Amino acid sequence: MKEVSSVEYEEIQVNTLNIKPCLGCFSCWNKTPGQCVIKDEMAGVLEKILWADLVIWSFGLYYFNVPSKMKNLIDRQLPNVLPFMVKDSESGSHPTRYDMSGKKHVVISTCGFYTTHGNYGSVDPMFDHFLGKRQIRENLLFTGRAFQSSSA
Ligand SMILES: Cc1cc2nc3c(=O)[nH]c(=O)nc-3n(C[C@H](O)[C@H](O)[C@H](O)COP(=O)(O)O)c2cc1C
Repeated sequence: MKEVSSVEYEEIQVNTLNIKPCLGCFSCWNKTPGQCVIKDEMAGVLEKILWADLVIWSFGLYYFNVPSKMKNLIDRQLPNVLPFMVKDSESGSHPTRYDMSGKKHVVISTCGFYTTHGNYGSVDPMFDHFLGKRQIRENLLFTGRAFQSSSA
């Protein structure tokens, strides 16, 4: 993407950022709508996510899920959803505070086990709930180790 001159591209290295865990205080819903009480680097991440047309979520699979720092970043997006719920699925969900309809997301992950099958059982529904149901799901990415094992 860096080679495509017309693309404005920003990379966020999640593990290098100071992002504290969500306090669960719901201030971002009732006291200061859309604003978190914690003043750290998450405010900048939220701005970038709103700015981008395409967000690529990239991570190595840890214990059948996203690594903790990425889960933390996902939790801290509560300011960007509204306090009420809609029954758009079995569980229901919170509508987004801003119009995200034109935004696209890509999820890329590597893993180390024999196959992606069964490995992404927690990740798939989480991103579907969080970003909306994906249109394309490809399990193509293996680490060298996993690829050799699965083809043995
Ligand atoms: C704490 C930890 C938990 C992991 N859990 C899983 C797992 O549940 N499933 C899996 O396939 N790989 C797991 N892995 C392997 C990583 O997904 C893998 O190391 C990562 O995708 C990077 O690939 P690489 O080590 O070949 O560079 C885990 C690795 C670590 C360090």
